[in-house]
Amino acid sequence: MAYRWKNTLQPRDATPQQIFFNRRAILGALAAGAAVSTLPHGAGADTLAPNPWEDITQYNNFYEFGTDKSDPAKYAGALTTSPWPIVIDGLVERPGTFDVQEIVAQMTEEERIYRFRCVEAWSMVVPWMGFELADMLAWAGVLPEARYVAFETLLRPEEMRGQRFRTLDWPYVEGLRLDEAMHPLTLMATGLYGKPMPKQNGAPLRLVVPWKYGFKSIKSIVRITLTKDEPPSSWALANPREYGFYSNVNPNVDHPRWSQATERRIGQGLFARRTPTLMFNGYEEDVAGLYAGMDLQKHF
Ligand code: MTE
Repeated sequence: MAYRWKNTLQPRDATPQQIFFNRRAILGALAAGAAVSTLPHGAGADTLAPNPWEDITQYNNFYEFGTDKSDPAKYAGALTTSPWPIVIDGLVERPGTFDVQEIVAQMTEEERIYRFRCVEAWSMVVPWMGFELADMLAWAGVLPEARYVAFETLLRPEEMRGQRFRTLDWPYVEGLRLDEAMHPLTLMATGLYGKPMPKQNGAPLRLVVPWKYGFKSIKSIVRITLTKDEPPSSWALANPREYGFYSNVNPNVDHPRWSQATERRIGQGLFARRTPTLMFNGYEEDVAGLYAGMDLQKHF
């Protein structure tokens, strides 16, 4: 069997889901130095009252629904996610429009990995569910000339009210180099914590690239295009000085407006120190080879 998954994280390492869904509130409280007594001790979330599903997903970035962190939870309910046709085109053997379910149905049982894969990101361990992007690309048949993969989010201002404002150049787009896209850590996520993906988190299908910053994780994908040239990325388009194409987690390269050298793991106790952020978010052994010989100050 080909090399597939090397991550040693287990479901028991996962950040408790109440903490995950309230992370921005918790981070905000930590930053303000307030309300620390409501935070859990150790990895258990017992001291946090369990939140109902309806109100635990209140802090998201999903500009299609507005720029406020609470907008996606308020407005993503309007999104119709079924049926969900996805276009696969560009340099592939089998271009066309397919439903997510159709693609998954064509995969072998081994490829259709609807089980937990714990991925460390956002200073947390999140149990995403989904399948490898590589399996989806193999299913479409990547042509030898292809070097990049471009992704596009749905454009539907009737349901995505944030798209009525030009906060970003819609539709939201992202891209990976083909070797990054084919890496077994690169996931097409369909759910988390054993539940289908909430709409505000990018239902029905969103990207997860564990060694990159969160904004590379494009949500609610409707088009995947194999290209020869480097595709655009919404944040790099909006602000090329601050956001690059690669966006690899790299403590040695500061964002122009803040340091990226340290982080604080959520859920490991109140007085946990900030720890140094690891190169490639801790996946250096797995992915450093993809960037051998590249100047990562330049290609940030
Ligand atoms: N995808 C789309 N389509 N639109 C967005 O605004 N925001 C990005 C990314 N994917 C975004 C998106 C940013 S800035 C982040 S930090 C993550 O989604 C947040 O994902 P989460 O809400 O699941 O934590």
